Order: sequence, then C-alpha cells, then structure tokens
Amino acid sequence: TQTKKIAVISGDGIGPEVVAEAEKIIKRTEDVFGYSFTTEHALFGGIAIDQKGTPLPEETLNVCKSADAVLLGAVGGPQWDNNPKELRPETGLLGIRKELGLFSNLRPAVIFDCLKDASTLKPEVLEGTDLMVVRELTGGIYFGEKFRREGANGEEAVDTCVYNTMEVERIVRQAFEIAQKRRKKLASVDKANVLETSRLWRETVNRIAPEYPDVELEHVLVDNCAMQLLRRPSSFDVIVTENMFGDILSDEAAMLTGSIGMLASASMGEGDYGLYEPVHGSAPDIAGQGLANPIATILSVALMYRLTFGYAEAADAIERAVAEVLDAGHRTADIAVDKSKALSTTQMGDLIAAAIRKQ
Ligand code: NAD
Ligand code: IPM
Ligand code: MN
Repeated sequence: TQTKKIAVISGDGIGPEVVAEAEKIIKRTEDVFGYSFTTEHALFGGIAIDQKGTPLPEETLNVCKSADAVLLGAVGGPQWDNNPKELRPETGLLGIRKELGLFSNLRPAVIFDCLKDASTLKPEVLEGTDLMVVRELTGGIYFGEKFRREGANGEEAVDTCVYNTMEVERIVRQAFEIAQKRRKKLASVDKANVLETSRLWRETVNRIAPEYPDVELEHVLVDNCAMQLLRRPSSFDVIVTENMFGDILSDEAAMLTGSIGMLASASMGEGDYGLYEPVHGSAPDIAGQGLANPIATILSVALMYRLTFGYAEAADAIERAVAEVLDAGHRTADIAVDKSKALSTTQMGDLIAAAIRKQ
C-alpha cells in the first residue's frame, strides 16, 4: 500500500506522553494491517516558544501542510500564561486551525458500557448515550477583533464575535450530512434570544434544513442545552454549534463518558485532510507522572484512519481494542474506582496496542 505521512506535534504537559502511546498504536496497525506510515515530528506550543520564539513556527506549519494528516497532543501551561498574546501556546493552536482551514471540529462522546460507574452521573441517565458535537472552529469570538482601550471606568477589554453566512452554511451542512449517516437528529445550539450572530446562525439553519428533510431538527438555546446534556444525554444525536459554545459543551459532554481523558476529536475542512487531537489540554497538574489517560489520543488515531485514510478496518480494530481492555477492568487513575490499582499511561497504551488484531 501507499505510504502516508503523518505530522506529529506533541506539544506541552501530558501532550508528549499521550502522543507516544498513539504512535505505538500507529506502529502496531502497520504490523497488523500492513499499512505504511512515515511520521515527521515538529515543535508546537510552549516548547516552540521556548526553542523558536513563536508557538507556531513556519517550519511546523510546512510539515503539517506536506502531510496527509496531523496528530496533535496538547499545548499550554502556567509558565506561558502571562505572556503577551502572540507568545501564548493557545494562540498557536488557533493559528494552526485557521491556517489549515479546519473549520469543522468533530467531538464524539460515546459511553463505554463498562465505564458507566466512572461518570458522576447516574448509569440509567447515561444508558444509550452516543452523541457528536460538531463545533465551528475558525470563527466567532475566538477570531474576532480584540483590543483594550481606556474607558470612563477604567480600562476596557473588547472581544468581538463575528460570523458570516458562508461560515455558518458550511459547518451546518456538514452537521446535517453527519446526522444523515447517524440517527438523523440534529440539535442546533445558539443564543438567538440575545446574540445577533446566533440569529444569523438560526436563520441559516432554517434556510438549509429543507434540503435535509430526513433529518429531525431542533433549535436549543445554549443554556438550556447545557442543562439537557445532563438531564437527557441519550436523546442527543448530533449537536452543531458555534466555536465557544462548542468548546464548553464538549467538555461537559466529556464528563458523560467518565473523563475528559476519553474524548477524541477530528478537525476537518472540506476534504479528507484532518488534524486529530484529544479534547483535553496539557493537564499541567498531572504532567510528567505517567498518570494521563492516553485513550482520547488513541481514539483520535481511529478517527484519523476512518476520516482521512479510509482505513475503516483498523479504526474499528482500535476502538474494539480500547473496549476490550476497559471491559477487562483496566483503568487509568482518572476512570478508576480503586485508584490504587490504576495503570500508568504507558501500561494502558501497551495493553491497547497488544489488543489490536484483525477481526
Ligand atoms: P485540561 O484539559 O488540561 O485539564 C483539566 C483537568 O482534566 C485536569 O484536572 C487534568 O488533570 C484532567 N485531565 C485532562 N486530560 C487528562 C487525561 N488525558 N488523563 C487524565 N486526566 C486528564 O484543562 P485545563 O487545566 O483547563 O488547561 C490546562 C492547559 O491546557 C491550559 O494551558 C489550556 O490553555 C490548555 N488547553 C489546551 C488544549 C489543547 O491543546 N487542545 C485544550 C484545552 C486546554
Ligand atoms: C480546545 C481548547 C482550545 C479551545 C484552547 C486551548 C485554545 O480548549 O481545543 O478545546 O478553546 O479551542
Ligand atoms: Mn476546550
């Protein structure tokens, strides 16, 4: 088979720890399925600020552009938190998403049956939950003009939230198409009772909806959605929403699965190219201790195989391996009931790699 190139950017904190386990999975699938990958590592985030003076070096961007897909760990940490905006790891993350045209962020939250006891919610509430947050990723308040000015009552800070019709249309269309391949339900989440951007969002959704008559559409205000996610999570199929609402709601959805260490994501544009990363951050509080759960990053590799490479067989095998290892009772600390028996990051990665096999 043809050799595919994966750009690997580990980043900061637990980023390198979880990415190392994902790379084990990639190697294992080469052995089991006969795929061929080359990986190219590049500096990104805080470590790139320290070594290159910028969170997103030109060279890193070029490595990503020359690859078929990008695997990303996480960026950020307290040592960079007081830096000016251009020298923040998070600014690099926004930059790479924008530069690569990745406007669509898919964040599936699937409950593994045996992990129902790991969630803070009652098992009967979680039963059957399988949802996908489709988050707009290159617009809204994250990317609008930001500035400070002197006001009558002291300094003022301004963040502007901007969306245009094209930006809303393309993400909403993707969400409808994803819903068509799932349970055909779409919840569009906005704050149309207050925000002008949300009113444009809702008008656009309503204009497009007739093209997808097989999809059942509901509009949900974001505050209500935050509540319904905890009250009736299993009733959601696909949720489509703007950038910041999607950021917040997907962390909330993560807790349905038991831990943010379980949530994978894919960031896509119009084509097959994608950037794959766990939803969680660099977790400075547990970095360097072998405590991080690598499953979110491992499941992100499964998404990469399915969405960029069309390697469905291997994607299924990775997901089956994760389920098998969890079913056997293996846990990292974040999802363990008995923390004293928890596995380390590398132990979990090894077990999952070993469990990958052809069906
Ligand atoms: P976080 O997701 O890093 O951590 C939140 C909590 O979840 C922490 O208690 C952490 O220990 C735990 N956690 C996260 N991932 C885990 C894993 N794989 N296994 C076990 N436990 C895990 O969020 P935060 O603490 O708000 O942010 C820390 C830093 O990460 C900040 O600098 C933030 O900007 C950055 N961040 C980066 C990304 C990204 O790179 N995509 C995403 C979110 C936050
Ligand atoms: C995420 C993160 C980022 C975001 C931050 C670190 C910029 O929280 O990927 O969810 O808000 O998009
Ligand atoms: Mn987030």
